Amino acid sequence: MAAFNNPFTPTFGIVPPYMAGRTYVIEDIVRALDRGPGDPNLATIFIGARGTGKTALLSYLADEALEHGWISVSVVAAPGMLEDIYERTKEAAAAYIDTTDSPKLKGLTVGQLFGLEWESAPREQLNWRSRMNALFKGLDQYGIGLLITVDEVSASLDEMISFAATYQLFVREGKRVGLLMAGLPHQVSALLRNQTVSFLRRSVQHRLSGVADQEVAQALVQTIASEGKTATGEAIDLMVDAIGGFPFMMQLVGYRSWDVSFGSCEITVKDVQRGVALAQGDLDQRVLEPTFYELSDGDLAFLRAMLEDQDVSLVADIAQRMGVASNYASQYRARLVEQGIIGTRGRGKIAFDMLHFKEFLLSKFAEA
Ligand SMILES: Nc1ncnc2c1ncn2[C@@H]1O[C@H](COP(=O)(O)OP(=O)(O)OP(=O)(O)O)[C@@H](O)[C@H]1O
Ligand SMILES: [Mg+2]
Repeated sequence: MAAFNNPFTPTFGIVPPYMAGRTYVIEDIVRALDRGPGDPNLATIFIGARGTGKTALLSYLADEALEHGWISVSVVAAPGMLEDIYERTKEAAAAYIDTTDSPKLKGLTVGQLFGLEWESAPREQLNWRSRMNALFKGLDQYGIGLLITVDEVSASLDEMISFAATYQLFVREGKRVGLLMAGLPHQVSALLRNQTVSFLRRSVQHRLSGVADQEVAQALVQTIASEGKTATGEAIDLMVDAIGGFPFMMQLVGYRSWDVSFGSCEITVKDVQRGVALAQGDLDQRVLEPTFYELSDGDLAFLRAMLEDQDVSLVADIAQRMGVASNYASQYRARLVEQGIIGTRGRGKIAFDMLHFKEFLLSKFAEA
């Protein structure tokens, strides 16, 4: 029996073999890398709830950048990020120069590229910006750009703010530099409210919400074909329904259905029925239940009151249904927004952000 490798990637942070529904975003960024300084897409923020594919997209673009003459460094917003960016830039420059086939870079070592700056100025005497400037100078000689990706942005981190402020100076100085950031909606909004980095408000913002069914279907077909299997049209439809546009769920459903179909070269409706049930269990166990059990009674009462509405709820209605004052309800709203479970939809309005959580709650409350 032929052995088939399962191509699905139901693990957070892993780039899937086919990115569903991100074609335009990817094109925008790649075009910006080719155009260089001045293209607005060189400063882009991806905003999305858990599991919408922020980290995967950053990694994908960081890899892509190499093909376009940019080295990339990827960090998360955490203490030490500035130093991390500096060290990773040195590393990336070394790797690029060692492996490139470009004749103008051949034979150069990083020492040659950056040695001068190191020798002439002991590291301790220079601040981060000056040290980065030295690296930029080295890279610029060869027309190499630097793409920095910052995942899990956090407005409460001082270093994040000082990084963004200095980044603005790099841009102003015409450096070949790009910045892609990603974060949960409430973190990004808090960052954009910060006065010190108000220029970030002019960056390009992409909301990563659910992926359209058609794009999910296409990515499923391609992923399945990439390891030599097929799936019936009906099987694909069934998968798409269960996935509901959620990238993480796409990987879970694909992974489980593939495994159920085992040695067969075709995934059938029967395989998918079983696969979906298993994937639903995985999603509950890995994402939805842990979230649910962390909620307080007040949080739950708030969410329960939201279930009466089709899509968007008014905080005022929720307070009334809970029988509490508006400002009391607002405390719960703030906590739930903080956790990425719900998000604001304009003044006084909210809706579920965490995909599949509403359905999960409906079934939980039906059980009780
Ligand atoms: N465009 C996509 N198409 C298909 N699968 C995807 C896509 N983007 C991400 N995935 C898959 O979805 C899952 C979640 O992706 P990722 O870890 O990037 O999400 P995230 O938004 O960074 O989540 P978190 O907020 O928890 O950090 C992974 O299994 C990944 O392989
Ligand atoms: Mg992530």
